[in-house]
Amino acid sequence: MLSLHNFKPKIGNVTRNRAGIVTLKQAIKKRMNSRIRNLEEYHKAYQESVSQPEKFWAEIAAEFSWKKPWDKVLEWNFRDFNVKWFDGAKLNITENCLDRHLESRGDQVAILWESNNPEIHGRQLSYRQLHTEVCKAANMLKNLGVKKGDRVCIYLPMVPEAAVAMLACARIGAIHSVVFAGFSAQSLADRIHDAQCAYVITADGAFRGSKSIALKEIVDEALQQSPSVKKVLVLKHTAQPVHWQEGRDCWWHEELEGCSEHCEAATMDAEDMLFILYTSGSTGKPKGVVHTTAGYMVWSAYTFRNVFQYEKGDVYWCTADVGWITGHSYIVYGPLLEGATTLMFEGIPTWPDAGRFWQIIDKYKVNIFYTAPTAIRSLMAHGDAFVYPHSLASLKTLGTVGEPINEEAWQWYYDNIGKGKCWVVDTWWQTETGGIMISPLAHITPAKPTYATLPLPGIQPVLVNGQGEEIKGNNAEGNLCIKFPWPGMLRTTYGDHERCRLNYFSTYENRYFTGDGCRRDFEGNYRIIGRVDDVINVSGHRMGTAEVENAINEHPHVIESAVVGFPHPIKGQGIYAYVICDHLPQQPEQRKKEILEMVTKMIGAIAKPDKIQFVSGLPKTRSGKIMRRILRKIAEGDTGNLGDTSTLLDPAIVESIRDGALQ
Ligand code: WT7
Repeated sequence: MLSLHNFKPKIGNVTRNRAGIVTLKQAIKKRMNSRIRNLEEYHKAYQESVSQPEKFWAEIAAEFSWKKPWDKVLEWNFRDFNVKWFDGAKLNITENCLDRHLESRGDQVAILWESNNPEIHGRQLSYRQLHTEVCKAANMLKNLGVKKGDRVCIYLPMVPEAAVAMLACARIGAIHSVVFAGFSAQSLADRIHDAQCAYVITADGAFRGSKSIALKEIVDEALQQSPSVKKVLVLKHTAQPVHWQEGRDCWWHEELEGCSEHCEAATMDAEDMLFILYTSGSTGKPKGVVHTTAGYMVWSAYTFRNVFQYEKGDVYWCTADVGWITGHSYIVYGPLLEGATTLMFEGIPTWPDAGRFWQIIDKYKVNIFYTAPTAIRSLMAHGDAFVYPHSLASLKTLGTVGEPINEEAWQWYYDNIGKGKCWVVDTWWQTETGGIMISPLAHITPAKPTYATLPLPGIQPVLVNGQGEEIKGNNAEGNLCIKFPWPGMLRTTYGDHERCRLNYFSTYENRYFTGDGCRRDFEGNYRIIGRVDDVINVSGHRMGTAEVENAINEHPHVIESAVVGFPHPIKGQGIYAYVICDHLPQQPEQRKKEILEMVTKMIGAIAKPDKIQFVSGLPKTRSGKIMRRILRKIAEGDTGNLGDTSTLLDPAIVESIRDGALQ
């Protein structure tokens, strides 16, 4: 393994790729530590990232281990969308997550694991142990036939093996596609099919509070429709009985036995795919967001370092699941790249009681805690009596992610969990952005309730108005776009680059469109208002309205449906479904139950509508488009002024829906 710190550029490289090498030389000479330490440094870094982006990122990248340096820091165009960071470089991200730390912190805990059941002993893996486990697992995957470039689907509970499996894939150059273990067999099958995964890694079951979920059974069902899958590797976790298909299924512990602890890290190109992660959009099925190796590495590490200001010895805990991007970037890659101690929790916040998070914080003396507004609101609703018994004295930084945080929840978090002494970082980003984009830097840049505040160095946000023009100046509101590439941005959507271009780069010329509405205050702080497309954010999880409608429409008696979001006190947004059946149901409660079961089967329990209203028609324009604006107003209970309904095919339908609305 070559460290850039002592890398000497070859003459040949200089003549071939002059620009890149010059930048690299500067990088090596300066060896600047890219940790921002005060407000002045933030402004300086931000300015540099805009005025000399290539130089800026080369200096940061120089702090990692590369097998070969890059030829060119950045190449890009947003027209047909093609972005390359550190092109020509060779590396393996696991050498940066693991091998690089062995000398300096081999015995430090890398992963702390807290079981669902508080009575069961947790586990911990030092960097050395994690390195060994990853190498063994990588050899196990090789023995099973996994090759560089193969897609491996990971459908696991929150156990250390989930991180080991991801890193083992990366070690040998296989592309992981982690699917959240709450998704249904149908969703899993769709994702396996789209990525053409030949391998699935799962467990017999998962614990969630007092329940256990039969993961292997769900995989078996999904695989009835997945001819691409050759092998299923099963981790024994709950020890529940499982159905076994000889020749296809194999036990993790049996396959791991005898595997060597040494595994040479595959040499990857900077732009080789690292992983695919599915996320919902406003149309069609979820799309596989693709992240590549070098840019994602630099971005997840840089953002982790600066937003959370992790110091050696800190215990860091992000409560997300590895099935979401937050788990990828801020449980696994970001923290491990930075040599942090990252805590993984298998359970849920409310079991055995609503004090579980706070009990865990005291147990492990957590210093940095990162969770979702939904969890905060839900625990707040359970009452402060669950918080008081715990000291929470170790905390110094609190983070939130996934959805807008309302002022009341922000204040409760700050006062009751942070005891008025912790920084709150409200981090705005997306699956597509790979890492945090807009956020305070803990203890450095000011926090402001309900505001994600300032862009990180490298991020150039713009607000765009209805005419597609950039709104300059402060105290403005518009659609949030980003006008310059950053290392962690998505590169494509798997198997369909045109869909990616259309989704993100066609609404506004030369800009990445986030899908969010946003306000900029007098000081230039950004506040995310919420999605402006047909995406609902339920408890920090993205759901496409079309996806939920398609699931509802699978019910044999449903003719058509329309789904919108509405404000929900805990979840942020709830799902409201207007449903047309062939006949108005005789037993509406029974029909609702069946519809909920259908959605659970097609997507998963997280997509279940909170409210279902049976209607005889939907407000449509003459061209057949559903006017969701009206449906949203009715769902919000704001029926006083429904706006202009004159363009509707049948204006009378609005009154009938309004009269039947559920409140
Ligand atoms: C959407 C992205 C980022 C990981 C978790 C969600 C919303 C995210 C915030 C925030 C307001 C936020 C946006 C965004 N969102 N963070 N701090 N404040 N809204 O990732 O599933 O890709 O969803 O979540 O609407 O577009 P995701």
